[in-house]
Parts: sequence; C-alpha cells; structure tokens
Amino acid sequence: MNEQTLIDKFIELYQPKNEVHTFFAPGRINLIGEHTDYNGGYVFPASISFGTYAVAAKREDRTIQFYSINLKEKGMITVTLDDLNYQKDDNWANYPKGMVDFFIKAGFELSHGFDVLYYGNIPNAAGLSSSASIELVTGVLLESLYQLDIDRIDMVKIGQQVENKYIGVNSGIMDQFAIGMGKKNHAILLDCDTLDYQYAPIELGNYVIMIINTNKRRELAESKYNERRSECEHALKDLQTQLPIKSLGELSIDQFETNKHLISNEVVRKRAKHAVYENQRTKDALAKLQADDLVGFGQLLNESHLSLQYDYEVTGVELDTLVQTAWEQDGVLGARMTGAGFGGCAIALVDKNKVDQIEKNITDVYTSKVGYSPTFYQATIGDGAKELKL
Ligand code: GLA
Repeated sequence: MNEQTLIDKFIELYQPKNEVHTFFAPGRINLIGEHTDYNGGYVFPASISFGTYAVAAKREDRTIQFYSINLKEKGMITVTLDDLNYQKDDNWANYPKGMVDFFIKAGFELSHGFDVLYYGNIPNAAGLSSSASIELVTGVLLESLYQLDIDRIDMVKIGQQVENKYIGVNSGIMDQFAIGMGKKNHAILLDCDTLDYQYAPIELGNYVIMIINTNKRRELAESKYNERRSECEHALKDLQTQLPIKSLGELSIDQFETNKHLISNEVVRKRAKHAVYENQRTKDALAKLQADDLVGFGQLLNESHLSLQYDYEVTGVELDTLVQTAWEQDGVLGARMTGAGFGGCAIALVDKNKVDQIEKNITDVYTSKVGYSPTFYQATIGDGAKELKL
C-alpha cells in the first residue's frame, strides 16, 4: 500500500476540512545488547524499513477518531480530549490515546482533536516493536499537527512511559529510542543509563542482515519478561550489600567475577552474568564494526545467543533451531535472537550471494523440527520517526 493510496483512503473516510499530513515510524531490530536496557547497560539497535504510517488532519472540535487498516474489524474508535483514560474496549487505539494523554500530562497543549488513519507493515507479533512504532508515529503526528516544540529524546521517553504506565508493559527504553532516533544505514550504540548515544555506520560489504521470523505466537512473553526483570533486581540487591552500584550495567566482567558469590541464588546469578557479559559484548561489537572485522562481530552475535539460551533462558526451541541451523550454513558469519525472545525473530549476518540457499536450508530444517515454516526478510536500515513531505 503506497502513501498516496493511504491519503486517498483517509480522505474518503474522514472528508477532512484541514490540511492532511503523513507520517512514518519504523520498527527496529537489535544487533546486540539484549535484556541490557533495563539493567542500565548498552544496546545496539537499528530502525528498519518496515513500520507504521499515519495520515492525519486536525479537527475543529475535541474529538479524536482512530482507524487502522490492519484492524478494520475494530472499526472507528472515537474518544474525546476530555476523557483519555485507558479503556479496554479501545483496544489497539490505547497506544495512540496514551500518547495523547501523556503529551498533555507533559504540559503540551492540544486544544482540538484530530482524525487519523494508521497502516502498518511490520509483521504481526514478530518482536520488531510494532507498539513502539505506533507510539512514535503518533508522537511525530502530535508534534507536527500542533506545532509543538519537543525534544526528540523527550518524545522517546513519553513513548516508554505510555508503554510502562498506560499500557502496563514494563519494558526498557531501547525500542522507543531506536525508533525515535533511528538513522538510515546506521545503528545506535546507546548507553541506557545516561542516554548518551553514538551512531555507527553499518557497512557490511558483501553481507546483509537477514531477519528470520519464527512465526511462533509469543505466549507468556510478558510474564517471563517481568520475571527476568525482577531476577536482575534481586541480583543487584545482593551485590549492593557490598558494592556501591546503581545498576548491573556498571559492573565490569572482572568485578562481576570477583563479587558474584554475593548473589545467593544460582539462577539469579546466571541472569546477572548474562547482563554483565552481554554489556561488554555490545561495546566490543562497535569496535569490531569500526575495525571492519565482520567475522569478530559475527562471533559476538553467536556468543550473545548462547548466553540468552543458557544463562538468561529466553530463547526456546524455535529460536534455537533457527539460529543453530544458521550457524551451520556456509556464508553465515553470525546469528542470534533479537528483541525480548520467547519467539519473535532472529537475525543473521549472511553473504548476499548465498541468501537463497541459506533460506532454503534453514526452512527445511526448521519446518521438519517445528512443524511450520519461518519467514525471511532482508533488513534495510531506514530513518527514525518522521513526517513524510510528499
Ligand atoms: C523488549 C523490550 C526492550 C528490551 C528488549 C530486550 O523489546 O521492549 O525494552 O528490554 O525486549 O532486550
């Protein structure tokens, strides 16, 4: 569906009286640095060319009407600026509604309502951050329609607050940051403690990043995610009995090894080990890319997966089968799960001349083991959330 088709549909649906604007926010992959964001560590994500479009125009009254082409069966969802509380019945529209609510709570004045039509092409439930994408596309929409002077990182933080406090998912800052701050052909090395960041050009020569969707439904993902968060908090408390640290992200590998005996529970110790080692790998990954050492970079991806499989335990048979099969293929420099885990997607660094053969081999092994096939996408790294000037 191209942008003009979306605008035509918007006009047909709403017959707007005011100027029509079009916006886009991407989804994201994370190259490395998994389950480190809420531990005050580093992440290394990039925004991708899949994402969410929004077409919108201001209204004269205080009504907001939301419509999604992807969820036509939910129909038009209508709310007013005078009642922006979370409502279960508002379904997917709670994401943009939460953004409106939190923009107002942050002090921005929205004196009129608006009409909006959304369309997303991020594969469903694939762990590529479709929810952060809809939050941020709504953020740039509000910025433009109401000519707000908002710092982009503040918008990113509002997106995370909506996720945490309005939707009730206890996620870190990575997804909203990657989507709000993304840059074409670059990944972002982000320190989630200070929010200092740096863009790293992704120049892979003969290699491409393949995204492989397990197509597994992500059941229990949320409760397991929260369980991992509290295990890390537990580890931190134990370490704080002797160490003046505020997050696991402050620990070097040496400091962790010297003090890990303070963590009494063995499982909790493994979780903390992942957080500390993964943080180091993430910093090392930037150095490998800067030195054009794709083999070394791929090796870090592999180590990351093993740590997520055995120490953090967030993979599962689907992701492990994809990744292990990828490792066995000629032309693959590295592969790992990406995102929260428990299903969703893996990424692999793949020789672009061998893509077809690799896809076929992975599909054969995965299908015979798991019972259904995976889906492949080639990742192009695009810009972060923005208005599209047509
Ligand atoms: C999800 C969360 C992120 C991050 C990742 C794991 O995508 O939304 O904040 O914690 O999982 O790295």
